[in-house]
Amino acid sequence: MGVAKLALALLHVVAVASTPTVRRATASEYKALPYYPAPFGGWVDEWTSSYAKAKKLVDSMTLAEKTNITAGTGLFMGYVQHNASDRVGFPQLCLNDAANGVRQTDNVTVFPDGITAGATFDKNLLYQRGAAIGKEARGKGVNVWLGPSVGPLGRKPKGGRNWEGFGADPVLQAVGARQTIKGIQEQGVIATIKHLIGNEQEMYRRQTTDVVSPAYSANIDDRTLHELYLWPFAEAVRTGVGAAMTAYNRVNGTTSSENSYLINGLLKDELGFQGFVMTDWLSQITGVGSALAGMDMSMPGDPLIPLFGNSLWMHELTRATLNGSVPMDRLNDMATRIVASWYQLGQDRSFPEVNFDTNTKNAVGPLYPAAWPNSPQGTVNKFVAVQADHDKVARQIAQDAITMLKNKDELLPISADRPLYVFGTGAQANSDGPNACADRNCNKGTLGQGWGSGTVDYMYLDDPIGAIKEEAEKVTFYNTDKFPSVPKPTEDDVAIVFITSDSGENQYTVEGNHGDRDASRLNAWHNGDALVKAAAAKYTNVIVVAHTVGPLVLEEWIDLPSVKSVLIAHLPGQEAGKSLTNVLFGSVSPSGHLPYSITHAEDDMPASVVDLIDSGFIDPPQDTYSEGLYIDYRWLNKEKIRPRYAFGHGLSYTNFSYTKATIKKVTQLDTYPPSRQDKEGVLDYSQDIPDYQEAVKPKDFKTIWRYLYSWLSESDAKAAAEKAKTSKYNYPDGYSATQKTVSPRAGGAQGGNAALWDEAYHLSVVVTNTGKDFSGKASVQAYVQFPDGNGYDTPVIQLRDFEKTAELAPGEKEEVKISLTRKDLSVWDVKTQDWVVPEVDGAYKVWLGGASDDLTVVCYVDELSCEETTKGPVVYA
Ligand code: NOJ
Repeated sequence: MGVAKLALALLHVVAVASTPTVRRATASEYKALPYYPAPFGGWVDEWTSSYAKAKKLVDSMTLAEKTNITAGTGLFMGYVQHNASDRVGFPQLCLNDAANGVRQTDNVTVFPDGITAGATFDKNLLYQRGAAIGKEARGKGVNVWLGPSVGPLGRKPKGGRNWEGFGADPVLQAVGARQTIKGIQEQGVIATIKHLIGNEQEMYRRQTTDVVSPAYSANIDDRTLHELYLWPFAEAVRTGVGAAMTAYNRVNGTTSSENSYLINGLLKDELGFQGFVMTDWLSQITGVGSALAGMDMSMPGDPLIPLFGNSLWMHELTRATLNGSVPMDRLNDMATRIVASWYQLGQDRSFPEVNFDTNTKNAVGPLYPAAWPNSPQGTVNKFVAVQADHDKVARQIAQDAITMLKNKDELLPISADRPLYVFGTGAQANSDGPNACADRNCNKGTLGQGWGSGTVDYMYLDDPIGAIKEEAEKVTFYNTDKFPSVPKPTEDDVAIVFITSDSGENQYTVEGNHGDRDASRLNAWHNGDALVKAAAAKYTNVIVVAHTVGPLVLEEWIDLPSVKSVLIAHLPGQEAGKSLTNVLFGSVSPSGHLPYSITHAEDDMPASVVDLIDSGFIDPPQDTYSEGLYIDYRWLNKEKIRPRYAFGHGLSYTNFSYTKATIKKVTQLDTYPPSRQDKEGVLDYSQDIPDYQEAVKPKDFKTIWRYLYSWLSESDAKAAAEKAKTSKYNYPDGYSATQKTVSPRAGGAQGGNAALWDEAYHLSVVVTNTGKDFSGKASVQAYVQFPDGNGYDTPVIQLRDFEKTAELAPGEKEEVKISLTRKDLSVWDVKTQDWVVPEVDGAYKVWLGGASDDLTVVCYVDELSCEETTKGPVVYA
């Protein structure tokens, strides 16, 4: 093994039972119960051949080679991050972010962020974005792309990283994840679904040392976990995702990276995940504990305090297997999962060498930056251009996401001949350069992305003012957020006011915001609300354009008579300009829809999601999901609180009708899905502890300072082997070494019981562009209303599927098809630990329309009929 190629480094729920087959819920206790042992992979048909090959390869590795591939090489240790096993032909893997492209490198595309892609409500664009990111990742030699992110789900409107995902709804997140993973993995790149789970706010997410700053505990009851937060993970696993990343925070009391219930129980057993599970960076807090809990890869390999050449795994995992603490079959399973994912994505056949370095922009640089000042130098950046024509899909997404909230007097679209007065620093790229702040940790100029690890370096930023000036002649730009002195406006003059709201990851504080929007709250930054009000006081035609990470409270100005039009342009990435002018000047109609609700006041949401944990000293803070299923529109609808703009809202320049709907039963459901398949072909791993010599560092091997190695000294290795004979590890309560073969009943295939995805009902609806002047694309959103009195408390309506039409000319029609699965009509039953259809063929209603508060067609599951209606399901007080 030893010749470790210059590697790189960048860089815890519910319950289970002590018996193997029965689980009980611990909703009220918020305690993650033990779930052991870590289930082996290889029993899912789609992965059989990859596992067979992986097992063969892993069987040929020495002990130290196996432990070597289960961790990174140390923080800042070069241009890849993971250790190789060269002797047997298993390469180092390059793992890299971001949520919207390839992070910290050159010649790549800055795609619109996840929230923007979600706002398109367009499955095809979500897929195309994934495919383009996958191609760029592959071209740079990234074996494992660290996305998509679906956790946070968007529970807390002020949560820092919601924009990396697709919107505050499990189905929107699930579809976003599925389409992205398909696109990424079709390019042979392993996608990573993250962060498992409950990372709904940034502050106090991470344990930094044992006592001073413990991570908060996301306390989530079993039903809420299944119906909201785990839902997108299930979809990702069903799609065949090759990797998963745990979260920094605790879940129901236990740190995610050593949470056996979460990893062994939910992810690997119930959801049948076959890939490998990695820690989030520097979040591992126990060595043996995390191994037993099902963790497969420690990233970047260091413990909480990095850069001392220490690791909780590597040489320590070697020691722990030699002395019998971590069973050999667990190590064999870890290594096999990693190698199996590599085979599954075809990376054994050919994969580009990594050709960039996140630590420097220079061609030549230190091969191991963390070994400073003694690192050898070499070529680390080859500047490979991978953008191809991806600007096109990036622009299309940025454009199709633009969400028009309001358009009084049909001010939009505007003619390019009108005198335009543009206000706000958000209209123009940061004059210091769009990448002036590392990981975009500032909000200066056009806001194309949030901040943190989910960001990409711009090659260019097509800013709005540049694009406006290209189309219009009479443009006056005031690059200021303070309303300037302006000439007396005429009636023809139009003011366009740019405002922003930013957030990101907790390692940066930006203008007092610690990742989450704790300082700015849901108000526009830089006194944007005052800027809008001042413009509205002067001009009679005001258009507001907001680049924002999430919901804003608009009340200070939304009803002012001159604020006629409002566009939410989300986070458009590099294509902020032309995508916007296409909408402003009317070459296309806006077709984006809100991937979250906009409320009149922050407090219209429950305190448990409004309040951020803002103290973490000594006691682990508790983030208790007391609102249960009722987040975003689910809460507002239950409480009859009228939002300012509802989830799914988005206007067009034209109008659409939804008519001639049909519903057809495709599969006869039963209360429970048919019994799951038993696991077949579970691999049989050896438990034999190898000779300690397999752990000893070869005599002539020259080590690099701080680099992480998996060897022990001869005396340490010998002592560990001796210890195995004399003492026994004190295994956690509930520990068992016997693989479960049938539990849990909700499992059985990737994502859970395969029958959950049986298509139960097919619906169709004819969408017609009823306008005269503009083409446009319509969104069809399908929300399910469970039968009254069905025995389970269910939200008034829940999004279950959506489709977007092609661009329809005036008068043109399209028949749109919607499909509902068994799972879509089920609730998670905590007693049986299974998905239940509470009323088979019951009085479910399926509502179709263009927004959660604009549902004009209803289909009845019991009668298999549909009708148009003016009375929607949601009634506000
Ligand atoms: C921490 C972030 O939480 C995670 O999303 C990211 O992938 C890693 N850092 C690596 O940068």
